[in-house]
Amino acid sequence: MLNRRSDSTVHLQLRDRWDYLCDDMEAHMEALTVRPPHDADMAAVTAIYAHYVEAGTSSFETVAPDEAEMRRRWRLLIEDQYPCFVAEHGGDVCGFAYAGPYRVRPAYRHTVENSVYVERAARQGGIGTVLLRTLVQACTDQGFRQMVAIMAESEHPASIRLHLAAGFEMVGTLRNVGYKHGRWLDTVLMQRELGEGARSPPEM
Ligand SMILES: CC(C)(COP(=O)(O)OP(=O)(O)OC[C@H]1O[C@@H](n2cnc3c(N)ncnc32)[C@H](O)[C@@H]1OP(=O)(O)O)[C@@H](O)C(=O)NCCC(=O)NCCS
Repeated sequence: MLNRRSDSTVHLQLRDRWDYLCDDMEAHMEALTVRPPHDADMAAVTAIYAHYVEAGTSSFETVAPDEAEMRRRWRLLIEDQYPCFVAEHGGDVCGFAYAGPYRVRPAYRHTVENSVYVERAARQGGIGTVLLRTLVQACTDQGFRQMVAIMAESEHPASIRLHLAAGFEMVGTLRNVGYKHGRWLDTVLMQRELGEGARSPPEM
């Protein structure tokens, strides 16, 4: 069996990355907490995600799910012991990340797909980087061997740089596989191995 336990909580001082966001010393001394989600976080998670569904092409959903639907989705992930995290800063949830099945057929079970979303006003402060690193570590610890990121378009430099910095490589581009906001959209595939990758058989 895979060891799929995730109870890690990470407290990080993001002084350097917050420097250019915050005006006063006290603000950039504040800690960012990355932790497993609580039920009370779901309103913030729903609102963060809704912005990207409605206003952009980060998600290929076209109608933002409501809080009940988000709660249902996260409950399924947690029941299946996929790592899920929220980032909290100053008492507010400002981002989230989770892993889920890459594809559902059993032979894919050692591969996860990741998702990372940061509240729009909090972007470029290093939160995405911390969330993704925490998720990669948790998935590695649980015995997964590959992580795949599927992101819309090659025009999203933040997503691509975020993943490159976390050790992902470009795998390829699927052309014109989506249609949203009146235009055809590509998806970019990125991948990184976890732990021993393919150098040994998975723990069964
Ligand atoms: C992608 C996303 C999670 C990044 O979160 P973030 O907190 O802004 O990321 P960070 O501040 O940690 O920056 C990560 C990298 O992206 C770069 N970056 C961030 N915003 C950028 C922008 N608008 N333009 C260019 N580069 C950008 C940073 O410089 C950093 O690169 P570096 O490590 O080489 O310096 C955030 O923009 C987001 O939520 N986007 C919508 C959802 C999405 O696309 N998710 C990814 C696919 S699941």
